Amino acid sequence: MKMSKEGSVFLSFVVILAVCSVDVVATGLLPPESAPLIRHYYKIHNTCANVEPFVRQQVKALIGDKTITPKLIKLLYADCMVNGCDASILLDGENTEKTSPKNRGLGAFVVIDIVKKVIEARCPRAVSCADILNLVVRDAIYFSGGPSYPVFLGRRDGMKSDAAWVDLPSPSISWDSALAYFTSKGLNMQDMVTLLGGHMMGRTRCSNILDRLYNFNNTGKPDPTMEPTTLSYLQKQCPKKVKLGQPNPLINLNPDNPTHKFTNSYYSRVLGNKSVLGVDQQLLYGGTDSYDLTDEYAHGLEDFRGEFAYSMTRMGGLKVLTGTKGEIRRNCRVVNK
Ligand SMILES: *[C@@H]1O[C@H](CO)[C@@H](O)[C@H](O)[C@H]1NC(C)=O
Ligand SMILES: *[C@@H]1O[C@H](CO)[C@@H](O)[C@H](O)[C@H]1NC(C)=O
Repeated sequence: MKMSKEGSVFLSFVVILAVCSVDVVATGLLPPESAPLIRHYYKIHNTCANVEPFVRQQVKALIGDKTITPKLIKLLYADCMVNGCDASILLDGENTEKTSPKNRGLGAFVVIDIVKKVIEARCPRAVSCADILNLVVRDAIYFSGGPSYPVFLGRRDGMKSDAAWVDLPSPSISWDSALAYFTSKGLNMQDMVTLLGGHMMGRTRCSNILDRLYNFNNTGKPDPTMEPTTLSYLQKQCPKKVKLGQPNPLINLNPDNPTHKFTNSYYSRVLGNKSVLGVDQQLLYGGTDSYDLTDEYAHGLEDFRGEFAYSMTRMGGLKVLTGTKGEIRRNCRVVNK
């Protein structure tokens, strides 16, 4: 409770600052390394004053398929958590982050390509892929019924990407290891509880939960904490693996949300022992703070909306490149010649 109250106060602070355009001060709320990011960077530098309406218009046109939003959120997560928000996840080529087995199933790259093309036509060589990714994700969340929130800008694009950097945790990671991972990146427990809420929408492969359904912790039995109706429902969706090459179906991460809307029902499922992924269910067992936050979000959509916006902003500020570091990529998939 205590931490989340702080979060709420910070968030209203961000909102107030955004309204008043006291930009520089607001960056004090972000991770320290993101300090040079500011609101309306392209307006202030007169390099692409209308970038935000341009992006929003494009996202609005592209967001017909509601499974795109969770893919975009995951794309930003995969970028920012690994070597910072430098758009290195977008680079094509051998042994890039994109090619890591841990990033299998990432999608929505083409959405970024389309938006980047439009922005390049209007403001050539001005707006970084890293900023575009952050704006696109914010707008996709908004068009899925989520909050809109200020995005601090001025990131530049990284010039390297290496599959070996990808240290993203597996969906069955323990609570302590997951928390250690988030903390090592500059985020905290509240960010983790809140960002896991991204699993409110989107899908996952059965292979990510087969252990929970049939052989939890090598016991030969299902996870004993899983609520029985959920267990039989998921076992029907994901039959036991008996032979190689068996189909590996996609299932909804939040079966209560088949239309992929912004919702807090993910947290109600956690409270009811109905989570799909092991890492989600552990929100109940991560200690009092994670339990209290889960409970607060399950019963307060508005709280969750505000805190989700706040933690997305914090994640979007991790280890950014600014000033003369990096470059403004012309094509998000390749480093400039
Ligand atoms: C998994 O099994 C090990 C012992 O084999 C045990 O120490 C551990 O607590 C178990 N984990 C869970 C989540 O039950
Ligand atoms: C969830 O599981 C835990 C034990 O693992 C149990 O104490 C709790 O009562 C369960 N909650 C519900 C709503 O079934």
